[in-house]
Amino acid sequence: MNILLLGSGGREHAIAASIAKSELCDRLFIAPGNAGTTECGTNVDLKIDDFESIGKFVIDNDIKMVVVGPEAPLVGGIADFFADNEILKNVALIGPSAQGAQLEGSKDFAKMFMQRHNIPTAAYKTFTRDTLKEGQKFLSTLNAPYVLKADGLAAGKGVLILDNLKEAKQELKAMLEDAKFGDASSRVVIEQYLDGIELSVFVLTDGKHYKILPSAKDYKRIGEGDTGLNTGGMGSVSPVVFANKEFMQKVERDIVIPTIKGLQKENIQYKGFIFLGLMAVKDADGTLAPYVIEYNVRMGDPETESVFPRIKSDVVELFNAVWDGTLNNKKLDIDERSAACVMLTAGGYPESYKKGDTINGLDEIGESLVFHAGTKRTASGNIVTNGGRVLCVTTLSHSLPEALLKSLQAAENIKWKGRYYRHDIGQDLLKISIS
Ligand code: AMP
Ligand code: GLY
Repeated sequence: MNILLLGSGGREHAIAASIAKSELCDRLFIAPGNAGTTECGTNVDLKIDDFESIGKFVIDNDIKMVVVGPEAPLVGGIADFFADNEILKNVALIGPSAQGAQLEGSKDFAKMFMQRHNIPTAAYKTFTRDTLKEGQKFLSTLNAPYVLKADGLAAGKGVLILDNLKEAKQELKAMLEDAKFGDASSRVVIEQYLDGIELSVFVLTDGKHYKILPSAKDYKRIGEGDTGLNTGGMGSVSPVVFANKEFMQKVERDIVIPTIKGLQKENIQYKGFIFLGLMAVKDADGTLAPYVIEYNVRMGDPETESVFPRIKSDVVELFNAVWDGTLNNKKLDIDERSAACVMLTAGGYPESYKKGDTINGLDEIGESLVFHAGTKRTASGNIVTNGGRVLCVTTLSHSLPEALLKSLQAAENIKWKGRYYRHDIGQDLLKISIS
């Protein structure tokens, strides 16, 4: 069958690589894609929020499956657009309805959903411009640090964690009254601070049945030792050592099952990925318990670049089962090895950076895999930088230290002017002993 994948990042290159391996895939199109995705299929110049053009392309090219990479088209209602069209409704669209995508599109919606279904998360209250004074009073009742979250999509920037009460009150005012994050902060969620270690767990669901994909950890800060500005993600590892069997059983029992049952009970159409952003918090009995920090309605980036290479099952077969509602009949085969992904970025990122630098050394990567993010092929065939996060290298190995080392070696060999990467991805996990 012909398949269309929407998106252009490292996540999409990793998904495209898995789709391209499937015997079920005849032609793969990626819109808009990047220089790396051309190794897996054909890039198409479509805007991911232009549903009319996407629909026309799907019909004209006899596409039977559409896989949605990023959240924006899902929150914008691409699944509903397809469902409402006599021809497009028969195309397997992998991604939730707009209502389901509210789990990511609105923090308030997600919090209320978790409360309704008894899913462990930080205690919270939501405030608007009209209730600013109450919000400031509520902050006074909490202990530092203070967590303020813009309700809507704010490109990963809408969360503030502040140590000082006065500053927290000022920031709340800036978000609600001065629209610090535009419309996204017309509502603000204030929540209890959770002290623990973060990790990501991914679920694939047909709305009724589910498969839990490997866990991963991403590294969001630009600087080594988790310092400096937040980025889209500087690397990832999978699996996460402390997410052992006992912990994952709690994730399944306390979070995955109530989430899927909640979606069903509320009649929310959901065929796609659920990304659980979790905090592992030490409970009173000394064991780790998972709390949901956020839901996303897509795969993570750069987690996908370490999770997808570990999926041995045919992903197109899994996606078909998601569409048919028969995921329970499929087996998920996971590579036991560890994956380590190191992201290479343009100098200056996440602040201003240059584009158009020629990338060298792409074939000096040994057994590692390269997934492109911000890259472009020039008319003369050179691959040049075209974004802040440029590309990542992933290595699979029976030992995490070896996977990390090999990814770092490959990263060192890929060069352009100003390229930067973190040398300490995964090092924190090597220090954690599992009880
Ligand atoms: P979010 O956009 O909700 O994922 O939040 C962004 C980041 O803020 C998370 O990845 C966490 O590192 C941090 N964070 C969010 N909520 C909390 C919380 N309740 N307690 C501690 N850290 C948090
Ligand atoms: N890696 C975090 C995200 O994709 O949102």
